[in-house]
Amino acid sequence: MNQQMPMIDLAGEYREIKSEIDSAVQRVLDSGHFILGDEVDALEQEIAAYLGVRHAIGVASGSDALFLALMALDVGPGDKVITTPFSFFATASCIVRLGAVPVFCDIDHRTFDLDPESVRKYLQASYTPAVKAIIPVHLYGQCCDMDPLFGLAATYGIKIVEDCAQSFGSTYKGRQSGGMGDIGCFSFFPTKNLGAYGDGGMVTTNDDGLAEHVRMLRVHGARHKYHHEELGINSRLDAMQAAILRVKLAHVDEWTERRRVLAAVYDRELSAIQWLQVPYVMPECRHTYHQYTIRVPRERRAMIQETLASSSIPTQVYYPEPLHQQPCFASTQELGGQLSNAEAAVPSVLSLPMYQGLKDCDQVEIGFLIGESGNGTV
Ligand SMILES: Cc1ncc(COP(=O)(O)O)c(C=O)c1O
Repeated sequence: MNQQMPMIDLAGEYREIKSEIDSAVQRVLDSGHFILGDEVDALEQEIAAYLGVRHAIGVASGSDALFLALMALDVGPGDKVITTPFSFFATASCIVRLGAVPVFCDIDHRTFDLDPESVRKYLQASYTPAVKAIIPVHLYGQCCDMDPLFGLAATYGIKIVEDCAQSFGSTYKGRQSGGMGDIGCFSFFPTKNLGAYGDGGMVTTNDDGLAEHVRMLRVHGARHKYHHEELGINSRLDAMQAAILRVKLAHVDEWTERRRVLAAVYDRELSAIQWLQVPYVMPECRHTYHQYTIRVPRERRAMIQETLASSSIPTQVYYPEPLHQQPCFASTQELGGQLSNAEAAVPSVLSLPMYQGLKDCDQVEIGFLIGESGNGTV
């Protein structure tokens, strides 16, 4: 293979739906309406219907969706929010930006998602009324084990904010991610399974009061124009992104099925390699493979990456540093116990190329090269 393979092929995806996208963009240009408005209203309704939730509120990014969700729950100084240390930065920065303390609990070593048992131990030993919420992240496209978390949330009176940035269309026991907790937060960053052509995000909820609060907070805290009831932020989804997302929403199920087929091909090609673990899929869950992430022995990872890179095949590490080791959280965070599973995941995870246009023959080659790169090298 000589031509550089991408991790994800957004230009190829655009070519597939070019005429639909072009006419949606033209429609917005002709309308002269660029922020919120009819396109955003329509997208909100379509996404609410897809997820089976009462409310979907378009915002400027996934990071803002999380920030607004916590604002709407009145999280502030002195409060604590439990989350995972193995996620993108925005999962925890929203907590610290509101003056609250992120409490990092460990992950499940199989799914890489927040481990409810670690949360249970923390709450049992250290619960105070300051603990306001839990943010489980449905990492790589697989839902967190939610039922035990709902049990804990009910026992302790804590809210659940789902970070669904990587899990559009993922389900847990028949329930959609973003439709289970008190609030769901989506990112439409271009590389997401449902991605815009710029930044965008969405807050979802079944709670009428929370929905109204988020709608107000996203426009500087104003229910009525120029009358500001509280301090909000400017976080509006734009009409162009909404129109593009409406086109892509109609394709997302077909694309997700394609990703699931590609994941099965990877599973088949890689499962014979003794020292490697293919993604574990929880029973009764629909994994949408935002990432296809394998686990390899830490001493072999760099060698595998180099072998693939020399054949123009990219790989990525999500995430090379856990959140509890980020310098900017050092003075504010609380560790909710040993984070040994998260620390063990960091040096051993490896994400492989994953996009609708990926070819089976390329996956066979990737499997072969990974197998070879492990032979006799360690
Ligand atoms: C798990 C997770 N949470 C939050 C975000 C933030 O989303 P955005 O980039 O749209 O602000 C991302 C995006 O990368 C993410 O992967």
